[in-house]
Amino acid sequence: MRTDTPQTIYRKDYTPPAYWVDTVEMGFDLDPAETRVATRMTMRRNPDSRARNLLLHGEGLQLAQLRVNGKALGPRAYALGQGTLEIFNPPQNVVLEIETVIKPDQNTSLMGLYVSNGNFFTQCEAEGFRKITYFPDRPDVMARYTVMLRADKERYPVLLSNGNLIDQGDLGDGRHYATWEDPFKKPSYLFALVAGNLVCHEETYRLQSGREVLLQVWVEEGNLDKTQHAMESLKNSIRWDEERFGLELDLDRFMIVAVGDFNMGAMENKGLNIFNTKYVLANPRIATDADFANIESVVGHEYFHNWTGNRVTCRDWFQLSLKEGLTVFRDQEFSADMIGTDTGRAVKRIEDVRVLRQAQFPEDAGPMAHPVRPDSYVEINNFYTVTIYEKGSEVVRMYQTLLGKDGFRKGMDLYFQRHDGQAVTCDDFRAAMADANGRDLTQFELWYSQAGTPRVKVETRYDAIGKQYEMTLSQSCPPTPGEESKQPFHIPVAVGLLDAAGRDIPLRLAASGAGPDAPTTLVLELTRDKQTFVFTHVPERPVPSVLRDFSAPVILDIDYADEELAFLMAHDSDAFNRWEAGQRLAMRRMLALTEQVEADPAALQNLDEPMLVDSFRATLNDEALDPAFRELALTLPSETIIAEQMAVVNPQAIHAVRRALRRLLAQQLRLDWRVAYEGNRDAGPYSPDASAAGRRGLKNLALGYLAELDDTESHLLAQSQYDNANNMTDRMAALAALANGGAPGREDALAGFYDEFKDEALVVDKWFTLQAMARNTDVAAVRALMSHPAFTLKNPNRARSLIFSFCNGNPPQFHATDGSGYGFWAESVIALNRINPQVAARLARSLDRWRKFTPPLRAMMQDALRQVARSGPLSKDVHEVITKSLAE
Ligand code: TRP
Ligand code: ZN
Repeated sequence: MRTDTPQTIYRKDYTPPAYWVDTVEMGFDLDPAETRVATRMTMRRNPDSRARNLLLHGEGLQLAQLRVNGKALGPRAYALGQGTLEIFNPPQNVVLEIETVIKPDQNTSLMGLYVSNGNFFTQCEAEGFRKITYFPDRPDVMARYTVMLRADKERYPVLLSNGNLIDQGDLGDGRHYATWEDPFKKPSYLFALVAGNLVCHEETYRLQSGREVLLQVWVEEGNLDKTQHAMESLKNSIRWDEERFGLELDLDRFMIVAVGDFNMGAMENKGLNIFNTKYVLANPRIATDADFANIESVVGHEYFHNWTGNRVTCRDWFQLSLKEGLTVFRDQEFSADMIGTDTGRAVKRIEDVRVLRQAQFPEDAGPMAHPVRPDSYVEINNFYTVTIYEKGSEVVRMYQTLLGKDGFRKGMDLYFQRHDGQAVTCDDFRAAMADANGRDLTQFELWYSQAGTPRVKVETRYDAIGKQYEMTLSQSCPPTPGEESKQPFHIPVAVGLLDAAGRDIPLRLAASGAGPDAPTTLVLELTRDKQTFVFTHVPERPVPSVLRDFSAPVILDIDYADEELAFLMAHDSDAFNRWEAGQRLAMRRMLALTEQVEADPAALQNLDEPMLVDSFRATLNDEALDPAFRELALTLPSETIIAEQMAVVNPQAIHAVRRALRRLLAQQLRLDWRVAYEGNRDAGPYSPDASAAGRRGLKNLALGYLAELDDTESHLLAQSQYDNANNMTDRMAALAALANGGAPGREDALAGFYDEFKDEALVVDKWFTLQAMARNTDVAAVRALMSHPAFTLKNPNRARSLIFSFCNGNPPQFHATDGSGYGFWAESVIALNRINPQVAARLARSLDRWRKFTPPLRAMMQDALRQVARSGPLSKDVHEVITKSLAE
């Protein structure tokens, strides 16, 4: 905690380190109250640095020993500063020996070495290694590590670290040891250790090269029956990276460990991935289809980091998206390939774009907006953002769209050929893509350096005599903090043209010669403010399908008539745009209705939306469409996404409109929903595969719509599904339907559910989340849940399950007109700030968009932000978020 103003770190200030570290030997005497860490590093002067002193980082450490080349350092030979240890003028080659003492059981930040449920874990990314020992804790310092762990044998029978186990044995006094050696050099943020009472599910796996590797998933006793899916996901990931990118697992052993207290999703420590239990543990009893899918993607993500992140790492933290954007792209492609079908791929794409619009577009338009490669930060933990991850992935995807799948692969191959074992920059990645394909990607750099979501405007003109169709694309990008004007981006815009029957017209551009097999989708490259593309041989006025498969992370302004949207929704061969057309149609109606409701609260009384209802009915009943696709197409844009479209946000009006529309769709399609419900029931055993999950998804969407009617029939349906479900997906869907209305079985179901699952932490989280997001849960009800014995702020999953779910997932209650939601938010941020700054700072972001709201809400939100600002010493993390939110 601090009271002074934390300093800003700038990308332009990067300088190489004064010393390189070749080897690191560590010895840990593990004890929860007091752990002793002895570190011996061999270092050598970096000829490219002009600095003379050796700078190490350290935080919250007790320094017990400090020796350079065997001699204890006198008090004048070094200085301890704010988070630093500086050694003056050391020789060319240094053997540095340091002993520190740390207190793992008092570490509630969950960074560095900490205790969770009696076991030891570490989290070092981004700057947690400095909470273990003094070290040049920056990603461009890569070293070879050997680690010896010593601990009580009974309490900590399992001792794990990175790489290979080279020795183990007893120490005599009831303690034992294990020594691990990582054959690859790595930055300190990839260091990890785990010690405790754990069991593992292990399998051997044969790589394509024929080499056998040992795969382990470590969990607490009693959870072995929840490891199968993670293990399958790991094997699929290994195979996929070999097939798609020619990348092989480089270790003989690969371990995943699940921990219940964790700040984020998972961590790619070399050979020893540490996971939030939420992304490991699953079986049909406790996990939903979404959980199964998330586990596959997170296991993939962390595994893929082994090459994109670990073998080639980041020079500095401004380059974070170099590994994260690329690895998210890889996990998205992996998940899509695992589904395999074309619509399956589109479904995955739609889900990913939904996340982008729900979370990244608002970030890019708010006070924390930053480029994919930021220019400055105060606390790096605040920059593990949807911009770095999801927009970063879109940027990587655009290379593939521009260069083709083969061209992209060539770029990847060159990237590894050039940079294996190095710490590099986003520019190095772009150069590999450009050089491998002989392309000039200079302008593409702007995707890394400019923040904000570009808008692309489409205007068209058809010349019936010349059979030509002109498409004029223009781009703009609104200002973001510190960046008033923007230069034009290099934007790939994938386009198709539909004839009156809904078929694709073969595309020929006036500029290029016509081939016999003209494609039906073309990628236009928009590089200037405004450009016109001319299609020839267009026999009739077409309906354009623009930004197919969401070829760039932009907002598309295009004037469609309602009829054209309904037409695209029915016919577009591009499944993404088919979905998009329906969303546009719904959005347009909801924006208009919101305006009407604000003028006249009675405006929703005789609601009638024939165009929307008819197109929804057609989609719902189109048996040729994948159920998973229908589920997405029949889901209205979220309240957050609607809010983003408005200049001034009135959450109550948005909620009223969306709900009224859902009720209207429930009433007018009531029989269709019933048919879809019955038609997509599965009698057989549960499987989480995409096709079964898709059927369940559509069935449960139907249940949700029917529950809007809140009548006896829907209550009975939900109750019967709840009573008969053989899996958690159906259980949760039914419980949500009961919890959102006035079903007589509501209270019994909620109490019974808790009782049945009180020993399954991840299910208890779901129980809190479901109630946090229920329609009638106000702040008072959230406070009541906080005093439930199962609630604690110390466990991030639990805190998120109730507090974050309420603040981010229950807009009408969070934005209650009396301001109670904001008061609760401020209290929670202040309480969390003392326990876990990283988690607190995430919650602090819930008021990011306060300036967009109606004046009375705005004023109360500003008050709440100020309340946090003056509440006392704030962590760097929370301080940065609050200061930036309040800045003019
Ligand atoms: N590198 C991790 C990932 O994306 C992110 C991560 C896990 C992390 N734990 C963290 C980042 C703690 C900061 C702090 O897979
Ligand atoms: Zn990652």
